[in-house]
Amino acid sequence: AGHVVTTEVLIVGSGPAGSAAALFLSTQGIENIMITKYRWTANTPRAHITNQRTMEILRDAGIEDQVLAEATPHELMGDTVYCESMSGEEIGRRPTWGTRPDRRADYELASPSLPCDIPQTLLEPILVKNATKRGTQTQFSTEYLSHVQDAEGVSVRVRNRLTGHDYTIRAKYLIGADGARSKIAEDIGTPFEGAMDIGGSMNITFKADLAHLAAERPSILYWVFQPGANIGGLGAGLIRCVRPWSEWLIVWGFDINGEEPTLDDDEAIRIVRNMTGIPDLEVEITGYSLWGNNEQWATHMQNGRVFIAGDAAHRHPPSHGLGSNTSVQDAYNLAWKIAAVIHGQAGAELLETYSVERAPVAKQIVQRANQSSRDYKRIFDALGVTGATSNEEYLELLKLRKEPTAEGAARRTELRAALDYKDYEFNAQGTEIGQFYQSTAVVTDGLDRPEMTQDPLLHHQKSTFPGLRLPHAWIGDSRRKYSTHDAATGTGFTLFTGITGAPWAEAAREVALELGIELKSVVIGEGLEVQDLYGDWLHQREVAEDGIVLVRPDKHIAWRAQSLAADPKAALTAALSSILGRG
Ligand code: FDA
Repeated sequence: AGHVVTTEVLIVGSGPAGSAAALFLSTQGIENIMITKYRWTANTPRAHITNQRTMEILRDAGIEDQVLAEATPHELMGDTVYCESMSGEEIGRRPTWGTRPDRRADYELASPSLPCDIPQTLLEPILVKNATKRGTQTQFSTEYLSHVQDAEGVSVRVRNRLTGHDYTIRAKYLIGADGARSKIAEDIGTPFEGAMDIGGSMNITFKADLAHLAAERPSILYWVFQPGANIGGLGAGLIRCVRPWSEWLIVWGFDINGEEPTLDDDEAIRIVRNMTGIPDLEVEITGYSLWGNNEQWATHMQNGRVFIAGDAAHRHPPSHGLGSNTSVQDAYNLAWKIAAVIHGQAGAELLETYSVERAPVAKQIVQRANQSSRDYKRIFDALGVTGATSNEEYLELLKLRKEPTAEGAARRTELRAALDYKDYEFNAQGTEIGQFYQSTAVVTDGLDRPEMTQDPLLHHQKSTFPGLRLPHAWIGDSRRKYSTHDAATGTGFTLFTGITGAPWAEAAREVALELGIELKSVVIGEGLEVQDLYGDWLHQREVAEDGIVLVRPDKHIAWRAQSLAADPKAALTAALSSILGRG
């Protein structure tokens, strides 16, 4: 069997899910090894939209500034354009990702962090670097082969691809963050629903100075309606900004049941020039690749000591930008639970809440991303190009929207409605930050969850109902202003209460000692270290001043009490023991 290396957690994969898991575990003081098959991180830009929830998580991990330093900022993300070519006639525009003035308010009110755009080629190195700095042993060119688990741990066979040498890593837990073709998901017999390879996409990356075309309408997405017959295309392509405004990626669809499209530099340059509408554009093609679109999700994400996270559990098209976000969020949910169990603070049943909480999210985001992709049909229908059988016909039909007839007018109204409907993909704050957990790691208070007053996919509604994410409010003092998310610790539990709730804080000190956990108290009120500067917390807390809101390390509400309990220590101990699975 040879030499055996031991660690607490082995993570397979250094993509967004794996590197985030490594970072969060190292931050929690858990020894871990992260292996990845390749020499380095992602070699193509791939996922890029980074939503508010993920930014909050990266903020909690202390790396939000590093990400923002390399990202395309929020204000340059969203004047999304639909056009005949990037320099050609416009079909319409719609501000996205919360950049429309009315939605900007929603986004600013909901979170201390705004969305940004960072391609995977830049995000992964930041995650890997910080994880490694904090203790992760990162092993590139190392391939997962197989594993066996027993009552105490998992023995994993891996291969050093440089030397060809196989060895065993013995860990307490194994995280399979090995992507959409996950071998670990297969090896543990993960149950899946849905299908793989329901469509194909082709990415072309290139360099060209297009600043003049973005200046008045900065956006990371330019949708181009052009017939794509030569590669069996769907008739619309995407020009996506990778670095403003010099590096780009074109996405074309292709028929996955047909012949694989072939591409060379000349063909790629031709597509770029067509899409930009500049026949003599100076282009440097930097790469092209094919990849499959999927609609598949795991219905269970754990088998004993083995967990799957990221695309290993949810496979879907890039529409909505949910891939990398959900991957990071999986890792955030799992890391504190593994840490609590390894630190002896929680029973092993806490680990079961990972799949209970995240598998429904996997299903939801896979279906949502695919629905968003299908919703483009409305635009094709409105334009009248859906049934086009040739390039010429497509181009002819594309003119229908300009006809000076009643039919043309109806088409224009329908077109605007179809573009606006894309808010379900592009201004879907509810989908992005409204995740809700129901499991034994959440204790409800007998009340009902407040009714949503707006569309829950588009809008976020703050509430401290257990299982929801901690509402953001600015709190602080005369010199410092920070979010409730900053006040809550990412390494333990936090309770929020008011002046007359001070006995909760006293009780918390004793409970923390007795349970051997980190339990921070944030008492908010006039004359205290932490004040409710704008009264926002008062309006959001949904409990009396002497009640509490108890928050988990992943900033979801664990439990709340409407008012001061007769025995706050007993009440807190009961809630925490239940959440932590301590029987
Ligand atoms: P991810 O696939 O990123 O990482 C898997 C990791 O596992 C890698 O580090 C790999 O080396 C490792 N691994 C796999 N098998 C292993 C083994 N046996 N042993 C060791 N290591 C192993 N999304 C989007 O929003 N917009 C886009 O344009 C694209 N484009 C795109 C292009 C291509 C080519 C791909 C592959 C994917 C996309 N995506 C995308 C999807 C997006 O990249 C995806 O959702 C996230 O990367 C998921 O992150 P994970 O960490 O789960 O897996």
